[in-house]
Amino acid sequence: MAEASVSRHGMWSSRLLFVLAAAGSAVGLGNIWKFPYIAGENGGGAFVVVYLLCVVLVGIPIMMAEVLLGRSGRVSPINTMRKLVINAKASPLWVLIGWMGALAGFLILSYYGVIAGWALYYGVEMASGHFTGADAAAVSGTFDDFLANPWQLLFWQTLFMAMTIFIVARGVVRGLEVAIRLFMPALFILLVVLLGYAVTSGGFAEGFAFMFHFDWSALGVDGVLVALGQAFFTLSLGMGAIMAYGAYMPANSSIGSTVVSIASLDTLIAIVAGLAIFPIVFANALEPGEGPGLMFVTIPLAFAQMPFGALFGTIFFVLVSFAAITSAISLTEPALAYLVEQYNANRARVAISLGVICWLLGIGTVLSFNHWEQITLVGGQNFFGTVDYLSQNIMLPLGGLLIALFAGWVLPRMVTEEQLGSSPWVARFFLPLVRYVAPACVLAVFAYTLYSSLT
Ligand code: PHE
Repeated sequence: MAEASVSRHGMWSSRLLFVLAAAGSAVGLGNIWKFPYIAGENGGGAFVVVYLLCVVLVGIPIMMAEVLLGRSGRVSPINTMRKLVINAKASPLWVLIGWMGALAGFLILSYYGVIAGWALYYGVEMASGHFTGADAAAVSGTFDDFLANPWQLLFWQTLFMAMTIFIVARGVVRGLEVAIRLFMPALFILLVVLLGYAVTSGGFAEGFAFMFHFDWSALGVDGVLVALGQAFFTLSLGMGAIMAYGAYMPANSSIGSTVVSIASLDTLIAIVAGLAIFPIVFANALEPGEGPGLMFVTIPLAFAQMPFGALFGTIFFVLVSFAAITSAISLTEPALAYLVEQYNANRARVAISLGVICWLLGIGTVLSFNHWEQITLVGGQNFFGTVDYLSQNIMLPLGGLLIALFAGWVLPRMVTEEQLGSSPWVARFFLPLVRYVAPACVLAVFAYTLYSSLT
């Protein structure tokens, strides 16, 4: 195959910037907002163990597969799959990986923008001193009132989507690289500050035990599927975001070690977020299974009680918003890059059109927290629950399964070696994982949930 060594969309300026960009995509609401609440809903410890297994056995090999596919194609995931299919003389059906991914990214962004909007609102409320000295009841009350008002949610969702589209329109490399360099370390430092507070909150032992206590009975049947879905979601896998970013990765950096750093960073941040949140939950007699509101109740409560809480609280929510933006941007990249290539279109124009459609779809999520809360679609879930479940628990694992199968069985060995190097390590580690282990895990989890929902 005639190899392109650069992408028309731009290139990351170094390996480090690729790591930061991919980590910027990976680290987001999935780590700080979602991981603690789904761990809480699924019983804590056993969930965390299954989740970690999913990251190592499924997440890392699939992330390597995405980067290597993307870098060998150097175009959007849909066109990369087209190129690779022709090259491997394989069925054009594999291109569905690209299409399903672009769609999944779009669905995820529709609700991601709403939740990220909450973080923006909380940043402003923190700065205004609204929470200073508030107790648990007042903090929960503020959150409930906020959710009950669709216009408020709509306002903050619109603001977040506008900021995202603005950056996306300017091009990933220019705006993004600078922001990531600054915000990722700052977010991490703040999480550590929160962790320090949690340690002294009086609930640390209980919070720690909740996260690491190994109790299988607490993990519902569905919990295993949720853990797998979370591993995909938090690592941005299964929908082509990492494939798209891989297309802009410098040719000479090693894929294996890069991917391991990204996955470790992402996992570390999720665990630290959990260890910062659960002790505060227990110290204040809150509910660990509180659901999507968990972060928006416990974190403001901690800041309400601590010295300079308004200041730290503001910084914290601003940083969460930035972590969310660096993820949101990557959610648009597969569809955006494809449309730019296909129609030779102006990036800014495509970004705005995509953004507006996604924003409209997001209104369904806005209403899911008030007027439409009780209207159920698939499996007794409301609009938000349905979009979230379908994209995260079905589309991402399915996309990941197909990516693993394609990289493991269809892609010519020559291409794999060209990308990963011909060290015996590739054959010993990567191939068995993408060929057997990762697909078997995803299939087993699918079969298990199907079986248990039928019986
Ligand atoms: N990984 C992001 C997070 O944890 C979400 C995301 C999913 C981003 C899929 C891109 C693709 O918040």
